[in-house]
Amino acid sequence: PPVSVFGVPTDIGASRRGASMGPEALRVAGLVEALSARGVDVEDLGDLSGPRNPLSPPVDGYRHLDEVVAWNQAVYQRSRDVLAQGRMPILLGGDHCLAIGSIAAVAAHCRKAGKKLRVLWLDAHADFNTREITPSGNIHGMPVACLCGLGPDALTRLGGEAPAITPEQVRQIGIRSVDPGEKRLVKEYGLDIYDMRYIDEVGMRQTMEEVLEGVDEATHLHVSFDVDMLDPAIAPGTGTRVPGGVNYREAQLIMEMVADTGRLGSLDVVEVNPALDRRNMTAKLAVDLVESLFGKSTLMRD
Ligand code: ARG
Ligand code: MN
Ligand code: MN
Ligand code: MN
Repeated sequence: PPVSVFGVPTDIGASRRGASMGPEALRVAGLVEALSARGVDVEDLGDLSGPRNPLSPPVDGYRHLDEVVAWNQAVYQRSRDVLAQGRMPILLGGDHCLAIGSIAAVAAHCRKAGKKLRVLWLDAHADFNTREITPSGNIHGMPVACLCGLGPDALTRLGGEAPAITPEQVRQIGIRSVDPGEKRLVKEYGLDIYDMRYIDEVGMRQTMEEVLEGVDEATHLHVSFDVDMLDPAIAPGTGTRVPGGVNYREAQLIMEMVADTGRLGSLDVVEVNPALDRRNMTAKLAVDLVESLFGKSTLMRD
């Protein structure tokens, strides 16, 4: 389908500044041109706007809750508009709290269209914290929990009903940092987590076969790509780096195997932080991976 790219220049859900510069970094790295070079019908809608980062401490377990809500309302509305036009939204973050609005919109769209939604959460982190267990108050550590109905109404009910999704719809890949309370909660909710140990033991090919099992013509795949899934050696430009991440070839294989399904319906590219990067290498790598997600491969010309 045709694609609509939009930027969401904020770091409101993080405690380190700089992910707000992510959308421009991804554009400068050539994201839009790379898609059109692949023959994709792509438009760039520019950036959404929202409140500035007040840099305040957490209140009742949430940092910047009102501002996170405002940004996500804008994301929700824009994502729904794009999907209603029959186009594929690509969100350029921004920090990962924005996936609350984007996936809530995709879930509402899928309910209406009678599609089965599956979310591939590519990340070093499970992002399943709540106000009670968060070590930081940062809402970019909470989007999966919010989408599954755990969190403040203003975030869990962005699309009206809660929960937007159930844990059975989520597959997490690349995970290697889960906070102590969060560990208990992901177990309790039965999140399907393909952590680095699992990937090391069975390999990425088998991991992705399991992740994509049951995907059919009626499935809408949403890929939420936090660039901190990647090993910091190849992707230093992100705020919450964790050693031992997914390497270049494994990351390519993830994208290629998703591309092969032909079921990609929406995408977030988040947590690119140019202030921490070297010569925009993280954004460039993200663009390279997005090309693969749209079918670029070594031996096929199409
Ligand atoms: N688990 C940590 C926290 O809750 C880190 C979350 C990092 N999330 C991210 N989207 N980079 O603060
Ligand atoms: Mn994340
Ligand atoms: Mn992360
Ligand atoms: Mn590629």
